[in-house]
Amino acid sequence: MDFSAQYQQKLTDAASLAARVENGWTIGMDAALAQAPGFAEALAARAAKNEVSGVWVHTLLDVYPFAFYLDESLSGKLNGMSWFSGGGARKAVNAGFADLIPGYYRDMPGHIRRAWDYDAVVLAASPMDKHGYFSLSCTSSYSEAMLDKTGRVYIEVNRELPRAVCGTQVHISRVDAIIENDHSLPVLPTAAPDALSTTIGGYIAELIPDGACIQLGIGAIPDAVGAALKTKHDLGIHTEMFTDSMVELIECGAVNNSKKQIHRYQSVTTFAYGSQRIYDYIDDNPGIAILPVDYVNDPAVICRNDNMISINAALEVDLFGQVCAESVGTKHMSGTGGQVDYVRGACQSKGGKSFIAFSSTAKGDTINKIKPVLTPGAIVTTSKNDVDYIVTEYGVAHLRGESLASRARQLIAIAHPNFRDELRFEAKKRGMLI
Ligand code: COA
Repeated sequence: MDFSAQYQQKLTDAASLAARVENGWTIGMDAALAQAPGFAEALAARAAKNEVSGVWVHTLLDVYPFAFYLDESLSGKLNGMSWFSGGGARKAVNAGFADLIPGYYRDMPGHIRRAWDYDAVVLAASPMDKHGYFSLSCTSSYSEAMLDKTGRVYIEVNRELPRAVCGTQVHISRVDAIIENDHSLPVLPTAAPDALSTTIGGYIAELIPDGACIQLGIGAIPDAVGAALKTKHDLGIHTEMFTDSMVELIECGAVNNSKKQIHRYQSVTTFAYGSQRIYDYIDDNPGIAILPVDYVNDPAVICRNDNMISINAALEVDLFGQVCAESVGTKHMSGTGGQVDYVRGACQSKGGKSFIAFSSTAKGDTINKIKPVLTPGAIVTTSKNDVDYIVTEYGVAHLRGESLASRARQLIAIAHPNFRDELRFEAKKRGMLI
């Protein structure tokens, strides 16, 4: 079988590939770097010329400036559907011209297999290897589920994408068309942790033993925790998103994955997104496995590693310990992602702990994030029954298994001092401070 000849036979250009799209098609893309910007741009150009209508493109964590999330004038012709959110999707969902599918990240392959059919799936990949395989590079996520539910597989090859040796691979025999689009990869801006994040990172690091297995979410605080873990030993990584701070922990020797119960000596993730340093680390590296999210984020898998530690962020928390990480009132900010998957997995692990960490206030100390009751419309991401540790710059509250009175007292103690009297008053009024 001459794979190069097959490749040449299937090779086309972005405009020609976009020209195959028919009215009413549903097109699947996966998370972050698996997305296909060349194809998307050509499709948007057709929509702008009124050549298509009723086309929907699915993404998760959009990382390119997709017209279907940025240009409302395309609505009705070309719309976006997000499985989580992202820069563009967040704005478009709030503006009312993009839609969102709620769910736990681990369940999304199941939702796709049960409820969705794709007219085409378009995935970015690194160049084909000598055996005819394209590596889906930094993303595994739900690609395999989408590939199972489509009749057409389009690959956008980018030579800048690293080749993940332990990740999802697509053989050329399954591919209908290929386009080539070399471009430098998007990076997630990072900043050195500020004083507040460093304080929070320090509190959490004190509670993480040597030999623990960690998951870090997106944002300044998880990054600061990563920085605070550099003095630890024998850490492991089992995470949803592989980030820069994890590469730093590997390179400084704090992570060696030696104490894990599953995937020993290997970091596990379902996608990676960050700086070029990550992409260079992943290239041809058997030390990292990028695997489907229904496996990686399954709490029954997560908890197989002892001392599993998860660290995620929130927008507000009420005195019961209900965690909102998805909206400010009714304003959509994010999907559920893997927060609950890891809260549950960590809590089921022997010696495991789950941390929800955030600054006590927003908008220059004018908004209190620890609230007597959640803002109307706020979405409960992690329930009061699942929550474990809550951390702010004022300390650590341990809520799991604790009474309502203990929860209220502990949460008031880590709220910003400007808001503690009001919280105490509201808690007393409700009979919570026995
Ligand atoms: N009321 C009003 N505004 C608030 C607020 C509140 N209670 N809390 C935060 N904000 C504002 C901030 O001021 C900031 O505004 P700006 O963009 O104008 O500066 C914005 O909301 C974002 O807040 P920030 O604290 O910077 O959040 P973040 O970017 O670190 O993201 C989540 C936090 C919760 C949205 C993010 O962690 C997430 O997407 N979680 C999803 C669930 C999850 O944890 N998944 C696993 C991750 S891999």
